[in-house]
Amino acid sequence: MDYFKIQGGDPLQGTVRAAGAKNAVLPILAAALLTDGTLRIPNSPKLRDVRTLSTLLEAMGCRVQREDSGAIEITADGDILWEATWEQVRQMRASICVLGPLVGRFGRAKVSLPGGCVFGVRPIDMHLKGLAALGADMRIEAGFVEASVPGGRLRGGEVFLGTPAGPTVTGTMNVLMAATLAEGRSVIHGAACEPEVGDLVDCLVAMGAKIEGKGSPTLEIQGVEQLGGAEHHVIPDRIEAGTYLMAGAITGSRVRVEGCVPAHLWAPLDALQRAGYEFEIGTDWVEILPRRQRPLPVDVTTQPFPGFPTDLQAQMMALMSLADGTSVITDRIYPDRYMHLPELLRLGARIRRQGSTAIIEGVESLSGAPVTASDLRASAALVLAGLVARGSTSVHRVYHIDRGYERIDEALAGLGARIERLEEA
Ligand code: EPU
Repeated sequence: MDYFKIQGGDPLQGTVRAAGAKNAVLPILAAALLTDGTLRIPNSPKLRDVRTLSTLLEAMGCRVQREDSGAIEITADGDILWEATWEQVRQMRASICVLGPLVGRFGRAKVSLPGGCVFGVRPIDMHLKGLAALGADMRIEAGFVEASVPGGRLRGGEVFLGTPAGPTVTGTMNVLMAATLAEGRSVIHGAACEPEVGDLVDCLVAMGAKIEGKGSPTLEIQGVEQLGGAEHHVIPDRIEAGTYLMAGAITGSRVRVEGCVPAHLWAPLDALQRAGYEFEIGTDWVEILPRRQRPLPVDVTTQPFPGFPTDLQAQMMALMSLADGTSVITDRIYPDRYMHLPELLRLGARIRRQGSTAIIEGVESLSGAPVTASDLRASAALVLAGLVARGSTSVHRVYHIDRGYERIDEALAGLGARIERLEEA
């Protein structure tokens, strides 16, 4: 098992490039199940989650070709097993994205329920409700979601997918993918507006789907008889881009992120601006400018897009732990997503939690210590904190971070950070 050893205190300087978005490429790879044509993603990021999903698709009978560049091609033209086991799904919740395509194309699916995760209960009731609205019989049996479609083909339907925490991203994607092959017209009300949903729409349209309302909370789908292969470039990863900008912020350095979409980053950029940072922004790049003073305290509440993303909440908390004053962070999407909090305390942060809210009294400096990563974004927050903590910080169990960041250690080292990947003794 690998860990990172970080010697804090060095300023960063330079440019990083955002990779393809993890949360776009995963459902898009699953969309390959909708056709017997080949789906090619030339800029698929080289992530552990992408390998995990490719392995699942291979086990289901798809042909998967990966190139050294990361490019990936998937063809689901043989006998496809419409089943995903608990071992496969529990490795990665996004495996649930095979459910919609299986029900849409084969009228059958048996996919293990993902269960909870380190940041609390994560139900999939809306996925089931949406597929049921298209005519699928959905049952829970022995830990599996079992779906069957009387007559074999879904029929168009209308459904509202909002949850008390807002729309569901992968729920919208599952129902959308299934509806592309349903007979007639479907409408998803309360659809998630995240850019990754829009990217899936673009890919499905390239495969021959008829979808209107991209980027809006109402998606209208006119089902077609079949979809074909396509080549699709996924959008840049806005969370990875935001994480590197926060690395610039926490070290007070100039960091330029290229190959990103600034319009996907308004809420985090606004939060950083309120914290006193300045930017230069181009068509596909953002550069955070150096700042000598501590960040100003800002309050942040996570919200569905275009609000502040829950996937940057931990990184923002690492930054606010050094603010010149007290800030309040509330996670409305995942009220229990605070595994980074006790680890930040080990570095000397002063944070207390009240329900879904964390109150952060900024300190002048953090001091390095061994900490343990417990999920992807919590790990990113600990790495950011390690970049400024006095002395040495070791971040253990970094396999979590490899799930969603393409070689973050090399990218940060390229910016001048003293970070090494080592093997646990
Ligand atoms: N929810 C329900 N019922 C459902 C589905 C969701 O009540 O059937 C609730 C959830 O409990 C949560 C809220 O709705 O409170 C939103 O959850 P959502 O379904 O949107 O999350 P997801 O689709 O499972 C995706 C990302 C997450 C990201 C969330 C929120 C992928 C593969 N995952 O998860 O990404 O945090 O949207 O934006 O797209 C990450 O990359 O680190 C990550 C966890």
